[in-house]
Amino acid sequence: MDIQALYTYLRPNLDRVEARIDTSLRSDIALLDGINRRLREHPGKMLRPMLALLVADACGGVTEDTLRFAAAAELLHNATLLHDDVVDGAVERRGVPTAAKLLGGGPAVLVGDYWLVNCMQEVLGASQEPERVLRIFARTLHHLTEGELLQMEKAGKGDTSQADYLRIVYGKTASLFEATATAAAISARASEEAVTAMGRFARLLGTAFQIKDDILDYSESSAALGKPVGLDLKEQKITQPLLCALEGVTADEAAQWRARVAQAAEHPERIGLIVDFVHAQDGVAKAGEVMDGFIADAIRCLDVLPETTSRQYLEALAQFVGNRKA
Ligand code: IPE
Ligand code: IPE
Ligand code: MG
Ligand code: MG
Repeated sequence: MDIQALYTYLRPNLDRVEARIDTSLRSDIALLDGINRRLREHPGKMLRPMLALLVADACGGVTEDTLRFAAAAELLHNATLLHDDVVDGAVERRGVPTAAKLLGGGPAVLVGDYWLVNCMQEVLGASQEPERVLRIFARTLHHLTEGELLQMEKAGKGDTSQADYLRIVYGKTASLFEATATAAAISARASEEAVTAMGRFARLLGTAFQIKDDILDYSESSAALGKPVGLDLKEQKITQPLLCALEGVTADEAAQWRARVAQAAEHPERIGLIVDFVHAQDGVAKAGEVMDGFIADAIRCLDVLPETTSRQYLEALAQFVGNRKA
């Protein structure tokens, strides 16, 4: 099953989610409305709404609240990207200049706040347990902020452990996947057992998704698509491929490589050496195995669901996360 079939299956509801997002972002402030329209012209993969729609469908059926929560998840996701691009000084996202580049960091942060508050308003308008779902999204933001700051703290030190890495991944990516699926299951009035299983499925899926993102940072195929290799290293990030590579060398050698990553921002000319080291130690393939483990565990969480097309599509989504090339 390919991802296009999944988009085709979800298209009518994805259109409704997109319409909700557009409506919620309208403003009579030209500066705000202009940048929002520009951002909406490049919507990204819409993975979180897809996850919400499939989970709700598999748990009993998409409701109006599902559409709200799907829109809320995407609004929150984009808010974090707006803020992240200021934090990372990123000039390009989705192949176009970032709001941070176009407007400067200050306005971009405020635009991010606007998307964030619209996320909350979407949730508060729900008929099904709005307070519970708001608490779920608030918890995600808590983990997101902690994850971004832990990553920042670790960047200068080069001492990220596997446990630190997984905490960062949970904070910046998997927690929102988890919240999205949990909210979607609630919107479909699923049993508590199914709500918990969907949260776990999405947390594992989100972890795999971020590991794949980190693998792509080392891959020439993503370079061919316009994203240079080694951006994470430039930001002094130690991610799964490097962690796997470090396992294959002595403690002294590992300490030297870690020191090189901590200095990568001042010495970008050394990034190629680190990338070569990771490939020589088979770090990318080993990181792929770690990711596959998370995908397999995620798929097992689907066992609580009845056999439906949506359940099959959830499995296809998990396979797509592992196989994606960009
Ligand atoms: C990007 O997420 C940020 C990460 C969590 C790696 P996506 O890759 O889902 O971003 P878009 O929305 O498709 O651009
Ligand atoms: C993703 O973080 C942004 C958040 C989920 C907050 P990264 O900085 O690692 O990802 P990209 O490369 O900018 O999408
Ligand atoms: Mg970034
Ligand atoms: Mg970042």
